[in-house]
Amino acid sequence: MERTALVTGASSGIGRATAEALVAAGYRVYGTSRKPAAVQAPVAGVEYLPLELESEESIEGLAGTLESVDVLVNNAGESQSGPFEELPGDALRRLFQINVFGPVRLAQLALPGMRERGYGRVVMVGSMLASFPLAYRSSYVASKAAIKGFSNAARHELSPYGVWLTTVEPGSIATGLSERRTVYANPDSPHRRRFETMLAALDRNERAGTPPERVARTILTAIAATRPRQRYAVGSNAPLVFALRRVAPVGLAERLTHRKHNLSI
Ligand SMILES: NC(=O)c1ccc[n+]([C@@H]2O[C@H](COP(=O)([O-])OP(=O)(O)OC[C@H]3O[C@@H](n4cnc5c(N)ncnc54)[C@H](OP(=O)(O)O)[C@@H]3O)[C@@H](O)[C@H]2O)c1
Repeated sequence: MERTALVTGASSGIGRATAEALVAAGYRVYGTSRKPAAVQAPVAGVEYLPLELESEESIEGLAGTLESVDVLVNNAGESQSGPFEELPGDALRRLFQINVFGPVRLAQLALPGMRERGYGRVVMVGSMLASFPLAYRSSYVASKAAIKGFSNAARHELSPYGVWLTTVEPGSIATGLSERRTVYANPDSPHRRRFETMLAALDRNERAGTPPERVARTILTAIAATRPRQRYAVGSNAPLVFALRRVAPVGLAERLTHRKHNLSI
């Protein structure tokens, strides 16, 4: 039976690689972009639909399509950085609308159909930073922890119906995301020096990161599992660092995370 999947943010990076992998695996694939007509080198076999996660109207516009999808990959997101003291309220609200409330609503629109048909997969693309929090990324970390929280808690509301929610946490992935990052810091910020040190390390790690195709393979593994796990992590030595986190004191994981971003704590 041909399954149908919808991948948000399929114009670049992880979303694009996932849409491509789903087509290759035989899915009928919808991919979203804020500007579907402007998608560079569209992936053959992907039907592009408009989605602006800041707009309730745009989200609700996908209701008819979401009723019929078997797989939803909530991938689109904003990467935000800035000193906690200086993050503007409107930027925080926008981030949570894009990274949390929008994906939650898309899942709510897809779940009834999945439940009635007795099969479904909802993949939240989170971030390893939600498991390894980092200075000057507080809003982003909190948004990715929030989406993981929805997924972890709601999983067993749906699992009796053959519908599984799961979170994929990528580490540093080479997608060019650093060019699209939103950054908030006051010009005279007392945090500027350490913040810029962290940002430079973040961008360096992203450029040297894991290819997005590797994340796409993990997303397909999660989808194909009979009982998908709560979390799949990929990139940034995920198996090693999660194993270390299980046995080492919290302070050590905190120090290593910050050291990887050139911050001593
Ligand atoms: N790269 C990393 O190191 C990394 C690490 C951990 C987690 N992640 C997460 O992985 C996901 C994909 O990131 P990526 O690295 O592949 O970045 P990317 O190449 O910049 O892709 C982001 C996608 O999100 C879409 N998007 C952005 N803002 C949107 C909005 N307001 N409404 C609707 N769609 C929007 C973009 O589509 P259009 O511009 O076409 O609308 C784009 O396709 C994100 O959730 C990110 O937080 C990335």
